[in-house]
Amino acid sequence: MANKNKNDNRTRLITLDKIRDKRGNLSVIESGKALPFPIARTYWIYDIPGGEHRGGHAYIKSEEFIIALSGSFEVYVNDGKEERTYTMNRCNQGLYIPAGTWRQMRNFATNSIALVIASTPYAPRDYIRCFDDFMRLKKEEEQQ
Ligand code: TYD
Repeated sequence: MANKNKNDNRTRLITLDKIRDKRGNLSVIESGKALPFPIARTYWIYDIPGGEHRGGHAYIKSEEFIIALSGSFEVYVNDGKEERTYTMNRCNQGLYIPAGTWRQMRNFATNSIALVIASTPYAPRDYIRCFDDFMRLKKEEEQQ
């Protein structure tokens, strides 16, 4: 199993197994195995024009795992206290992002493909789209 600590609720890179043979490499994700959440949805982002950003928002409930299936891009994350930027460029490594994390994908190389695996079905009400609202909510959570 690629992820050894399922209770670790922080943004982190998870390296998946790579099954190599002379025909090439294969990596796999099965619900309940490699990721710390059951899979409800998969989507992918592609044909991204130069200079575009994607996903400047946070989710209230949804957890995600983001992989660069092709090319490279950066994922900026902010949990309300700390910010960090991860460079994604390996097909067998993804970024786990827990709920309540601001994240933005940027600096896509030409022909990049971002695969996103999510823990919930699509729900517009799960989005926090305003960064100031996000920071306010995080401060309120901390005070509770
Ligand atoms: P959006 O979440 O704004 O994309 P990003 O976070 O990458 O900037 O979604 C863009 C559009 O796609 C928006 O009209 C909603 C739609 N969409 C779905 O229908 N289902 C989904 O699972 C997602 C992620 C988006």
